[in-house]
Amino acid sequence: MSAHDQVKMTEMNYSKDRPKAENPVKIEDLSLRDGHQSLFATRGRTEDMIPVAEMMDEVGFWAVETWGGATFDTMHRFLNEDPWERIRTLKRYFKKTPFSMLLRGQNLVGYRNYADDVAEAFVERAAANGMDIFRTFDALNDYRNFETVVPVIKKCGKHFQGCICYTMTEPRMGGEVYNLEYYVNKAKELEAMGADSICIKDMAGLLAPYDAYQIVKALKKTVKPPIHLHSHFTSGMSPMTHLKAIEAGVDIVDTCMSPYAYRTSHAAVEPLVMTLLGTNRDTGFDINLLAKINEKLEKEIMPKYKHLLDDSKMSIIDINVLLHQTPGGMLSNLVNQLRELDALDKLEEVYKELPRVRKELGQIPLVTPTSQIVGIQTVNNVLFDDENERYKMITDQVKDLCYGLYGKTAVPIDPEVQKKALKGYPRGEKPITCRPAEVLEPELPKAKEEIGDLAVDMDDLLIYALYPVTGKRFLKWKYGKEEPPESVKPITLEEVKKREELIKKALAGELVEKKKKDAPEKSENLRTFNVFIDDEYFEVGVDEVGGSPVLAYARQIAATTPVMPQPMAMPAAPAAPAAPAPAQAPAPAAEPAQEAAPAAEEKKAEEAPAAAAVEGTELTAPMPGMIVRYEKKVGDTVNEGETVVVLEAMKMENALPAPCSGTIKAINFDSGDSVAKGDVLAVIG
Ligand code: CO
Repeated sequence: MSAHDQVKMTEMNYSKDRPKAENPVKIEDLSLRDGHQSLFATRGRTEDMIPVAEMMDEVGFWAVETWGGATFDTMHRFLNEDPWERIRTLKRYFKKTPFSMLLRGQNLVGYRNYADDVAEAFVERAAANGMDIFRTFDALNDYRNFETVVPVIKKCGKHFQGCICYTMTEPRMGGEVYNLEYYVNKAKELEAMGADSICIKDMAGLLAPYDAYQIVKALKKTVKPPIHLHSHFTSGMSPMTHLKAIEAGVDIVDTCMSPYAYRTSHAAVEPLVMTLLGTNRDTGFDINLLAKINEKLEKEIMPKYKHLLDDSKMSIIDINVLLHQTPGGMLSNLVNQLRELDALDKLEEVYKELPRVRKELGQIPLVTPTSQIVGIQTVNNVLFDDENERYKMITDQVKDLCYGLYGKTAVPIDPEVQKKALKGYPRGEKPITCRPAEVLEPELPKAKEEIGDLAVDMDDLLIYALYPVTGKRFLKWKYGKEEPPESVKPITLEEVKKREELIKKALAGELVEKKKKDAPEKSENLRTFNVFIDDEYFEVGVDEVGGSPVLAYARQIAATTPVMPQPMAMPAAPAAPAAPAPAQAPAPAAEPAQEAAPAAEEKKAEEAPAAAAVEGTELTAPMPGMIVRYEKKVGDTVNEGETVVVLEAMKMENALPAPCSGTIKAINFDSGDSVAKGDVLAVIG
């Protein structure tokens, strides 16, 4: 055989024409949702999905995941994109491949249980806009939280995929709660609910290969619906886990295109296609086509997102996940939170406290939103508790959990913690045992009344009902009632190139000195970029002059501060100084909810002096966050301990109590404003 023949032979085997396998493994691609959610803080824009959409439609995926999870939140909050529009747009390019979304059961695409009217309308609208497969999960695996959405999914003629959240309390599957029997029973429950397929959702990458083999074997024996495996790469086990699950007969597995793969995301599709090539489970995918898609992604799309990737470590696996059994995203949230509070030295304590808090809260699985609930409560305990008292600052979400608003926990909640959490709880001090949404009043009529004509249709109304503060702001942008800030605008490849050139020059020391002298006046078009190179951090200002971006300044902020390139690092500080300033610590790693909107910053600057002039006891922000609402206004009287303001931090709401009794003398912020740790939120006199 000549070399030429060999090449031809290879091309033939790679192509789609090779003989079809007996029982091909079906593949769902997650690049356009979980992929960028895991690696790039869900910042993927629709315009960057379109260039590869038609090619991806040709691959033969069982489904592509395009929506759900954090996309709804991020799109309207940070990208100025209408989440509903994304489904309709992508649907024009994906003509054959079904769309899948991640639905958080009664939490929909938010962080709490919504009322039934919101849940029904949401699923109906998702189906009408083009969603085909509803991958539905509940953070507590309490399937009563599926009872409202499933009939709507079915009524719309769509695919109901029921998830079992995979979690554990021991180093491997087993123990008293999350053992094989638990998973088999959960699968039976889902089958009885009419699941069209059943997904083992291993959000933290904890599922070990041999445990996967055991579970898949057992489920294939017990239930009829196809079995789907969703396993994150985080710990490094998932490719092996895939293979063992395939050997056990799993029907569908989840992968990403390679630029969206690995780290806290998923295994890449290409090695799996090669692994199975020519076997009875061959996917049948054309590797040349996959390579073409990759090339386009690498050249035209990924440069825009590279700065969001956490490349602060050499290793692409997270060993802490194996040690602490917590999802990767949760760990980085904890680290960020501690860093913002200047308490990174407490990390070991947090690791120690975490399993204790989780156990006290009913040994719940750690997945959105329970991972945040347990995570932030743990941080609160470590920071605010003392020897005499634990749970000194309980988040509203923990109170809701203790009341039963999220559902039934795997084991009962510690009665002492529960009692403390429910002291003075507005819905009552006795927890409920019914399906949580049964105690929720319909929410749509009130939402409609509040938002009025700003919501033109049901899709708009749902954006507001799910996200009152940021949703309202988005609707104002959408209908031209308010100018969206620079930070929500997309960046172009040209801007990326300019930025890279600037960094090169800055590193060579050619830039800063020169620009110091003749930096032009910054215009209102100035955009600042935080740029991280190794452990150096630069702030680069790019000004749009006469239609093309011009460098305004570049300055090195810190040389050795350990900086994690943050999701929203670019573009960040809206009001950057025009001239190089003395070195300062980089802006704290921002959590989505805490990103400062320029308006909020200006407001703060305006009002700060006024606040200082008022005499009295200050209520300060114990952590950075966003003001959800004030429960008091100027002139109101308060008693010590009464809630004055609700602050959202790490997506959890914290009710901040009055430090003393008196009259509210000043309220320094508005709903939606971002605040830093130590900001004076109110003054009581
Ligand atoms: Co996932």
